[in-house]
Amino acid sequence: MCAKPTAELAERLMDAAIRAADRAYVPYSDFPVGAALLTAEGTIVTGCNIENASYPLTNCAERVAIGSAVAGGTRVIQAIAVFAPRVETVTPCGACRQVINEFKPAGEELWMIFHTNDGPELVPFSEILPRAFGPRDLER
Ligand code: THU
Repeated sequence: MCAKPTAELAERLMDAAIRAADRAYVPYSDFPVGAALLTAEGTIVTGCNIENASYPLTNCAERVAIGSAVAGGTRVIQAIAVFAPRVETVTPCGACRQVINEFKPAGEELWMIFHTNDGPELVPFSEILPRAFGPRDLER
């Protein structure tokens, strides 16, 4: 169910993230970000960052995409592509890494897809948040 995305699927997710970045609401940072995730059900859900005049209330693109996917019924995410037009490669902030961890597949990798000028780079999520604390730590 959660195999490493093919190069073609990674491109599709990155294209969706690039389009999502166009919808970012970033009047304060002027740093648009787009995210596109693949649910366990095989659908693509996108998000963009949404800032606020009360700066800390900003929502990152990744968490907007996850909120939308979870509200739509998803509980497992297979892959997430992230794109920010102002930099070659953007990776999720620490808060987003923790939220992504919540919805990774049990016992399998979630794949991060990062933009590079040579094409999408696939990175296992466990590499960017090793030894994470998550839902299964609360089971006894
Ligand atoms: N941001 C994201 O949406 N995702 C990231 O991966 C990095 C940072 C947003 C938050 C804020 O709106 C802007 O980028 C600058 O930090």
